[in-house]
Amino acid sequence: MSHLFLLCLLLSFLNFAASQDDVVMQALKSSLNLTSDVDWSNPNPCKWVTVQCDGSSRVTGIQLKQKGIRGTLPPNLQNLSELVILELFSNKISGPIPDLSGLTNLQTLNLHDNLFISTPENLFSGMNSLEEVYLDDNPFPSWEIPETVKEATSLKNLSLVNCNLTGSIPDFFSSETLPSLASLNLSRNNLHGGLPSSFAASSLQQLYLNGQQLNGSISVLQNMTSLVEVVLQGNAFSGPIPDLSGLQSLRLFNVRDNQLTGVVPPSFTGLKSLTVVNLTNNLFQGPTPLFQKSVSVDAVTNSFCLDTAGVPCDPRVDTLLSIAESFNYPMKLAMRWKGNDPCHSWLGIACSPSNITVVNLGRQELTGTISPSFAKLDSLETINLHSNQLTGSIPTELTTLPKLRILDVSHNNISYCDVPKFSASVKVLTSGGGGCGESSKKSSIVKIILPVVVGALCLIGLGVCLYAKRRRRPAKVQSPNTNMVIHPHHSGDSDAIELAVAAESSYSHSGSANSDIHVVESGNLVISIQVLRSVTNNFSEENILGTGGFGVVYKGELNDGTKIAVKRMESSASVVSDKGLAEFKSEIDVLTKMRHRHLVALLGLAKAYSSYIILLL
Ligand SMILES: *[C@@H]1O[C@H](CO)[C@@H](O)[C@H](O)[C@H]1NC(C)=O
Ligand SMILES: *[C@@H]1O[C@H](CO)[C@@H](O)[C@H](O)[C@H]1NC(C)=O
Ligand SMILES: *[C@@H]1O[C@H](CO)[C@@H](O)[C@H](O)[C@H]1NC(C)=O
Ligand SMILES: *[C@@H]1O[C@H](CO)[C@@H](O)[C@H](O)[C@H]1NC(C)=O
Ligand SMILES: *[C@@H]1O[C@H](CO)[C@@H](O)[C@H](O)[C@H]1NC(C)=O
Ligand SMILES: *[C@@H]1O[C@H](CO)[C@@H](O)[C@H](O)[C@H]1NC(C)=O
Ligand SMILES: *[C@@H]1O[C@H](CO)[C@@H](O)[C@H](O)[C@H]1NC(C)=O
Ligand SMILES: *[C@@H]1O[C@H](CO)[C@@H](O)[C@H](O)[C@H]1NC(C)=O
Ligand SMILES: *[C@@H]1O[C@H](CO)[C@@H](O)[C@H](O)[C@H]1NC(C)=O
Ligand SMILES: *[C@@H]1O[C@H](CO)[C@@H](O)[C@H](O)[C@H]1NC(C)=O
Repeated sequence: MSHLFLLCLLLSFLNFAASQDDVVMQALKSSLNLTSDVDWSNPNPCKWVTVQCDGSSRVTGIQLKQKGIRGTLPPNLQNLSELVILELFSNKISGPIPDLSGLTNLQTLNLHDNLFISTPENLFSGMNSLEEVYLDDNPFPSWEIPETVKEATSLKNLSLVNCNLTGSIPDFFSSETLPSLASLNLSRNNLHGGLPSSFAASSLQQLYLNGQQLNGSISVLQNMTSLVEVVLQGNAFSGPIPDLSGLQSLRLFNVRDNQLTGVVPPSFTGLKSLTVVNLTNNLFQGPTPLFQKSVSVDAVTNSFCLDTAGVPCDPRVDTLLSIAESFNYPMKLAMRWKGNDPCHSWLGIACSPSNITVVNLGRQELTGTISPSFAKLDSLETINLHSNQLTGSIPTELTTLPKLRILDVSHNNISYCDVPKFSASVKVLTSGGGGCGESSKKSSIVKIILPVVVGALCLIGLGVCLYAKRRRRPAKVQSPNTNMVIHPHHSGDSDAIELAVAAESSYSHSGSANSDIHVVESGNLVISIQVLRSVTNNFSEENILGTGGFGVVYKGELNDGTKIAVKRMESSASVVSDKGLAEFKSEIDVLTKMRHRHLVALLGLAKAYSSYIILLL
């Protein structure tokens, strides 16, 4: 008796449920403008084409794809609580995507290529059966990837291509949160920021992020060992390709049109699974990579040393690149260290004639550490790395450089406690950084002689240009690599002094070198006061060219015959007043912008009076 009652109750419940679906299905039918080939005329929706029901007449599937159907979706669609598959892609359905949070059995939501104008606030919430979601190519207003994605714990494929997404990629795409996620396609949106670190713990096989403003490092790829296809084309990613030797299934690697740097690692070129590689339009360095014959490769427009794949670089290039590697392959170096001859206008490199004598990379915003590879450049006389953000310590190997005279690593975050023992002829500058406090006595002595040195600071001003024009000799071609050496320029007082001291000790004995001054194209021009003093005959009256701005201009001639004009700034407080300083700066500004062929272009020359400009006549 009671059994019969229960059965009746159950039947009436099923009946009720079925009729509830009927209501929603009729609403759907009337809100869509169905095309003639879609026959939804039967009173029972379970008999409609492309509609599937279960044994209890509950609707489980609606698949109306590629019909050009117009219309909208009814707000009560979520009452189809047994729906497993909703596929309406490639139609012209418009209006909002309604609340779908009641569709707790839905596995496939495929609405791409329609005219939907919004997504519901709570999209994904409670939809823990969802496996595949495709909302690509709908004209949504801008929106961010919602936190509620986390609730769709069965997700395998998520595709939101060309969906007007903004913001950054959230940090929850790990196996812990979304254990089944295998394919993530967020191509052609307006996403920015970096790759989230949770990618490292994902089991993604396909990652498509092309065509937006994503940036930062791609190092997280190293841990994404399930990857089969990765497409990062058309973003602003930087830094090197990480060690990809763990990605044994990787077939497609497309990073075209980014700002990636560094040597393409053998751990990548050696991957057996690769079939398509696109590296074009980046700043990759070192040899053009050689892949197996079966791999289809594009790698043009980079900073490779040579164009032919697999041909090794000049050993000097290799050494400099391993130095750059320790700095995390900065973009600045990748842009300016091109080709196979480091003596041919490489940023911060000076040679004599083909041996590298100077590496001047002061104030280049370098990070990372100082490479022991410097020790391989055994003709090095000067290493300037001041005013960067380097960490670690000075490698002991550097003490073996036989010709080293100056090692300036001041103003970094280097451990200055354990400076290795250099020979007495090497000036090691270590002030202004982390660890171990000041470089003791020297800097206080230095402070005392500050006014003297400032008084001797010299620069060439605008006033000299006229003189330069009048006196210019015909066509003496001067390569910036051979006329001058630059010494680091610091804005802090004590640095200026230390540098002056260093310059004195290493350049006052002119004559042995083939010139007194070298230019290294990194911008900060500072020249030894001793040299200036000597070439201007100790600033003698005979050498005065005129008075301009707030200082006297002297002429002089370097050992190699290069004529220079030197403007000497007064050290008195009145000159270094704010007004004087402003004038001085604007003078420098003008000179910096005038790219006269005899005027060394100055970068980053800004602060204060410890700067110099050298004008070649
Ligand atoms: C529905 O389709 C018919 C013919 O296909 C058309 O005349 C009508 O304007 C459409 N209605 C809407 C709302 O799109
Ligand atoms: C949808 O289901 C809710 C309960 O889940 C019910 O209150 C509502 O009346 C239903 N709407 C329609 C149109 O069937
Ligand atoms: C993206 O959204 C913004 C604002 O919501 C809108 O102005 C813009 O037209 C949308 N872009 C596209 C391609 O739909
Ligand atoms: C869904 O993801 C799987 C696994 O990555 C992939 O093989 C399949 O092609 C994807 N399906 C679609 C329709 O993109
Ligand atoms: C991702 O979207 C792009 C369109 O930008 C498409 O070419 C690609 O095949 C998609 N990848 C997957 C795995 O669906
Ligand atoms: C990435 O871009 C954002 C702006 O979207 C910027 O703030 C950030 O500094 C950039 N990061 C890197 C590493 O370039
Ligand atoms: C990534 O992999 C490296 C080595 O393969 C490992 O040291 C590191 O901990 C991993 N990072 C994450 C976030 O899993
Ligand atoms: C590299 O990208 C360009 C532009 O998208 C494409 O034409 C070329 O076929 C790609 N090369 C490979 C090997 O996929
Ligand atoms: C370059 O350096 C090497 C090793 O220090 C030296 O033997 C050679 O003479 C140098 N060459 C020139 C042209 O200075
Ligand atoms: C310097 O390095 C130490 C550790 O090496 C770090 O704790 C500190 O934050 C760094 N300081 C700066 C200014 O980068």
